[in-house]
Amino acid sequence: MLATRLIESLSMSPDKVLFVADKFKKALVGGPSACGLKLIDSTFKKPSGHEQGEVLVLDFGGTNLRLLLVELKGNRDYRIVNQHVANLRQPHSGIDLTSESAGAEDLFDYIAGEVEHFIDAGRNYQLGQSFSFPTRQINSNSAILLEWTKEIKTRSAVGRDINGLLRDALQRRRITNVTVKAILNDAVGTLLAAAYKCGPADVGSICGTGHNSCYLDSSGRLINIESGNFFNAVLPVTKFDRLLDRSSINPGKQRLEKMVAGAYLGELFRLTMLDMAQDAPVSEGSKRLIEKLTTHSCIDAQDISLLLEQKTFAIGGAHYALSARELSAAEEIARSLVERSARLVTATYLGIIGFLDPHRQRRHVITIDGSLYEKMPGFAASIRNTLKDVCSQHIELHSGKDYSGIGAAVAAVMQE
Ligand code: BGC
Repeated sequence: MLATRLIESLSMSPDKVLFVADKFKKALVGGPSACGLKLIDSTFKKPSGHEQGEVLVLDFGGTNLRLLLVELKGNRDYRIVNQHVANLRQPHSGIDLTSESAGAEDLFDYIAGEVEHFIDAGRNYQLGQSFSFPTRQINSNSAILLEWTKEIKTRSAVGRDINGLLRDALQRRRITNVTVKAILNDAVGTLLAAAYKCGPADVGSICGTGHNSCYLDSSGRLINIESGNFFNAVLPVTKFDRLLDRSSINPGKQRLEKMVAGAYLGELFRLTMLDMAQDAPVSEGSKRLIEKLTTHSCIDAQDISLLLEQKTFAIGGAHYALSARELSAAEEIARSLVERSARLVTATYLGIIGFLDPHRQRRHVITIDGSLYEKMPGFAASIRNTLKDVCSQHIELHSGKDYSGIGAAVAAVMQE
């Protein structure tokens, strides 16, 4: 009974999707600050598709950092020559560069060290950075961090030029063969890569640890919406969303992102499960689980993927033997949270397209990068189905795996 009520509170009818879409469109019409949207001019325009060269890319997505060597072939094709992933949180050594105990210099010194290991000392590189946080874009090579999102708390970075911090750290390490050429938001990178690869792309989006979208405006500028910060009374907010927001690093901010993104789905699931467990009789096997559920942020999006894919309940690799009923209730809740996320994201896409083309006269291509879109069972299908439900014929969805990084390579070459 209780699970049914919870699930109902998470469901969104096609009409509700259209209602949210309309509010999102109105917020875009309203301009910067309407309902939290930032609408930042990225200073980038569409590439020609002929950009060519080998570029070192720093993809700063969140707690994970990727270094890529990307070859742009100049004919809309590319190849990832080499890559390396580093984690800014290393629990075994007690290092957490995303916490308040670390300063911006510590963070970028670590990044410069990773760059040094990744490159060959004997050759020169051009670097493009994809940076997945809200910035004020000064120009194509300079962006000031407005605030951290996704629970990152590193000190003394807000208000500073991110490529400047990187450049200084490279200098401290005496790395003289890397020239920092460009910085851009990951959603903007996704749209640049999509335009490089196949031309007619007008929306780029990230559905991963965080969420954001950007669009190509009628004058050819790429605008970073910072849609994760959207908030409006029309959003189907539950008491779990409010609880999560209150205990986050930035209460009142990134409210849409906190309802949809991978960084938060696990915590929403934990809060929902905990609430349900309090009223329902529980099996012996799940008592251990309930105890575990009292730990803040103990569940992540991968645990949810596993539950939906393999019907196993595990938290960070530790399995919990639930009764068949409990397992199916847990699965139902996870599925509903993923479905709500996909429907909300779809509503924003409809809002963007409605804003760009009110009479729906053109074909539109939305390119999406990010782990949620790529890996979460049911997420991508739900976006497609929701678009079908509301009859949006002119909208094509493309998967843009690795596109945020490819876009940073394109951006760096565009500066030559
Ligand atoms: C940030 C955006 C970013 C998105 C996806 C959000 O938390 O505010 O700038 O594009 O995450 O990574």
